[in-house]
Amino acid sequence: MTSEFAVEMRDVVKRFITPEGNDMAAVDHVTMKIKNGEFFSMLGSSGCGKTTSLRMIAGFEWPTEGEVYIEGVPMGHTPPFQRKVNTVFQSYALFQHMTVFQNIAFGLEMEGAQEDEIKKRVGRALEMVQLNGMERRRPKQLSGGQQQRVAVARALVKTPDVLLLDEPLGALDLKLRKEMQLELKALQQQLGITFIYVTHDQEEALTMSDRIAVMSKGKVQQMGTPVEVYERPANKFVADFIGESNFLEGKIKSLSKDEASVFVSSLNTELTGIPISQGLVKGEDVVVSIRPEKIRIAQKDALKQNMIQAKVTNMVYIGADTHVYVDAHGSKMKVLEQNHISRLDTSSFYKTGQDVWLMLMPENTLVLKKD
Ligand SMILES: Nc1ncnc2c1ncn2[C@@H]1O[C@H](COP(=O)(O)OP(=O)(O)O)[C@@H](O)[C@H]1O
Ligand SMILES: [Mg+2]
Repeated sequence: MTSEFAVEMRDVVKRFITPEGNDMAAVDHVTMKIKNGEFFSMLGSSGCGKTTSLRMIAGFEWPTEGEVYIEGVPMGHTPPFQRKVNTVFQSYALFQHMTVFQNIAFGLEMEGAQEDEIKKRVGRALEMVQLNGMERRRPKQLSGGQQQRVAVARALVKTPDVLLLDEPLGALDLKLRKEMQLELKALQQQLGITFIYVTHDQEEALTMSDRIAVMSKGKVQQMGTPVEVYERPANKFVADFIGESNFLEGKIKSLSKDEASVFVSSLNTELTGIPISQGLVKGEDVVVSIRPEKIRIAQKDALKQNMIQAKVTNMVYIGADTHVYVDAHGSKMKVLEQNHISRLDTSSFYKTGQDVWLMLMPENTLVLKKD
């Protein structure tokens, strides 16, 4: 391989003129370097520019500015069929009047491959997605998950270096989607090819990806491993979009090389020893972010440090966890407690109106720039 990176987007912009006559940047100075063999996801809500980015990599659209590289080669106006990438669309786009075999063989036939070559390669693709024996069926005679696998097989049969997948599991119900997530991930690991996967589902992205680009309004907000984007979100948007967070407004009171003290005026409390990662300055207004499952509830002010007094306002039992809603001097916060022990004993629950203390462990408390 000629390049460490299977695909790169370098400072790519894509402008569209909307039907209303406005000029908008669907993709706004995006740079991504996707490594060979990586499972890379673009994650963001509808309209953030995921499909447009994928279509530029595939060659269905051309950047207004910037450049797409595949295996280190600038793509310019190279047409889709000359790029070593293949796309699986959300709608599958299977030919309904053709059998599974014919659907998968179609691209090879178009290339003028020999009959026995086609047979061999379709057979191998069917095996990869575990559909052997179903080659004579038509799409209608398959379940949603099986149709999805035909769409994957059809893309894989052309032995692409990179597979582009645009919300490929969107049409499936939750249980099947979760099964297919693990199946696709296993397939990617087994084949060792690069997957670029588009989804708006954060749990899906966390489950499957080696790295995730979190996108919003045509821009990349953060790129990192699932653990990085969850545990160390780069800004408030990412902290809010991936998982849940409690936010408190504060001001940097003091600052050392890697720790900060933050004064939270609504609580009249100083939180100390909080790790910092970006260029914050003393006196800066910031947002303190704490995930619900990182807060511990205590009956007493046991630590005398980074503890907040609060009142329980509501309890919601949802089987595996209990969500405890609290009010800390007017700031509404949520705490998630795992139900390690049986809750059959009602006295194991907090009572509405009960006074409690919240322990905010410094290593799980984040200071983010206010944006
Ligand atoms: N061909 C087009 N003409 C005009 N606007 C477009 C076109 N394609 C996409 N857009 C706009 O670009 C933005 C990003 O779209 P898209 O990449 O499809 O988002 P996503 O896949 O993240 O939902 C949207 O606001 C969409 O309306
Ligand atoms: Mg899309």
